[in-house]
Amino acid sequence: MVASGDNRRALIAGNWKMNLDHLQSIALVQKLAWTLKDRNFQSDHVEVAIFPPFTDLRSVQTLIAADKLEFSLGGQDLSPHDSGAHTGDISGAFLSALACDYVLVGHSERRAHHGEDDEVCVAKVQAALRHSLTPVLCVGETAEDLETVGQSAVPVAQLGAVLREISAEADIVVAYEPVWAIGSGTPATAEQAQEVCAVLRDTIRDVHGDAQADRTRILYGGSVKSSNIAGFLRGADVDGALVGGASLDAEEFAAIAQFEKHVTID
Ligand code: 13P
Repeated sequence: MVASGDNRRALIAGNWKMNLDHLQSIALVQKLAWTLKDRNFQSDHVEVAIFPPFTDLRSVQTLIAADKLEFSLGGQDLSPHDSGAHTGDISGAFLSALACDYVLVGHSERRAHHGEDDEVCVAKVQAALRHSLTPVLCVGETAEDLETVGQSAVPVAQLGAVLREISAEADIVVAYEPVWAIGSGTPATAEQAQEVCAVLRDTIRDVHGDAQADRTRILYGGSVKSSNIAGFLRGADVDGALVGGASLDAEEFAAIAQFEKHVTID
């Protein structure tokens, strides 16, 4: 029994960050596929997506197609531009051509290390939508924000800035990732995650109405493990997880994808 919204298929997404070269990526995807098959994983309720580094995408895409694996694929970033003199950048058109379904936008590491502000995130979300990619917009507060303005103000502002520049018909995914919980081993509590995800859904409702609010999947990310995933997914507004470190271990990520086995009904 999935506690998240009935009409929203759960999404368990693995953000590999800057880990694994293209050969290692093949080994991990193969192991993940075998592990899920061995455990009789049913993908009807749960979509599993992986976000490898750019240099791995072609290898992973080829493997997914050849072995007919039920994994969605995404890039970790994209250029706001479609083509041209942007050395080192990757166009959404290229990700689309590699059969990517998704692309991360505004991950806190991009915001912190590459100075990506809301304006850049808006342009990247628009670029993703132009190329038929579903942007996974990452929002979240730092530890300092948490102390000064509380947990919801910053993620709500980051989401609102993007929503106001896209249409109510656009399909996006939102990932609430409190910066203090990322890679720290200290996740938000399930209650905190649900509280913020509910406020983020209200924000979508306020800006674009019921249809987009009801269909948009909102994920939690930050120190997600197989031992805490079930608690997060019990939240009515938490529709999945964006997993960093734990997505690099096939057994652990498979166990996270099988969160339904850990969910107990009250
Ligand atoms: P961890 O799961 O390693 O905390 O990372 C979360 C994250 O940043 C996913 O995008």
